Amino acid sequence: MPELRVEALTHTYSAGTPFEKTAVENITLSIPAGQMLALLGHTGSGKSTFIQHLNALLQPTSGKVYYDGKDVNADKYARRDVKGKVGLVFQYPEYQLFEETVFKDIAFGPKNQGLSEREIDERVREAARFVGVEEELFERSPLELSGGQKRRVAIAGVIAMRPGVLILDEPTAGLDPAGCRQILDNIRAYREETGSTVILVSHNMDDAARMADRLIVFDHGRLAMDGTPEEVFARPEELIAIGLNVPQAAALAMALRERGVALEGSIFTHEQLRAAVLRAKEAGAC
Ligand SMILES: Nc1ncnc2c1ncn2[C@@H]1O[C@H](COP(=O)(O)OP(=O)(O)O)[C@@H](O)[C@H]1O
Ligand SMILES: [Mg+2]
Repeated sequence: MPELRVEALTHTYSAGTPFEKTAVENITLSIPAGQMLALLGHTGSGKSTFIQHLNALLQPTSGKVYYDGKDVNADKYARRDVKGKVGLVFQYPEYQLFEETVFKDIAFGPKNQGLSEREIDERVREAARFVGVEEELFERSPLELSGGQKRRVAIAGVIAMRPGVLILDEPTAGLDPAGCRQILDNIRAYREETGSTVILVSHNMDDAARMADRLIVFDHGRLAMDGTPEEVFARPEELIAIGLNVPQAAALAMALRERGVALEGSIFTHEQLRAAVLRAKEAGAC
């Protein structure tokens, strides 16, 4: 099974100029196939720079990226190849919709992959279904759609390439709560059905807590934390120290514990908090 491996990755922008900035510094990690990973960090911590290396859109200043054991920057063919296998949905991807119809926009990637008309048609329908874009919209201009619909069309355009790894940079940014929930549910269903690796870049801890098997936290371009949600949210003080918040449920559990309520177990979702409070109540602890 293909895995992504990053070795000692460093990226410096504008090296040798007064604007030199090391955005990502000495990151080493492996992402096994099928993992659902959330990449967290405050603004400017290097998240977007990092993920653009995973499909060879940016080249490392030093270090290597391997997909399926192959150096993604080995040559121009390797670089092109990885772009179809590791799909990247940029932040605010709807600004990159440019075709005259929704269908053509979703079809753009598969068309570039040289697929037949029939295969393209199948890919477009499948991708649209994953993100909840109805076929009635296929002949409409993307410009006529709502913000949430545009975003889903843009995501479908990447899914239509059937990438083994799907990376989404802040996919819920700027959407209302219902729009956010819908996108996250779509992503979860997509991952469950296809078994793809999914990397979700976010600064929303509640989304990460609900969605991911593994959390990676960046701080000033460095890897600050890497573990399961249980492990990472068991260190709330560290998260707060690097300018992140903790999930609402974890913050409430911390506040209750400070007031002497004996809550057991790791708590970062509302369900866990509810269960722990009920257990504490039964035990007569509050
Ligand atoms: N194209 C660029 N040229 C110069 N500096 C950049 C560029 N893109 C990002 N940076 C800088 O690199 C750092 C990391 O940015 P970025 O990867 O966008 O972080 P994040 O996605 O976590 O907000 C920031 O200090 C940012 O200003
Ligand atoms: Mg970013």
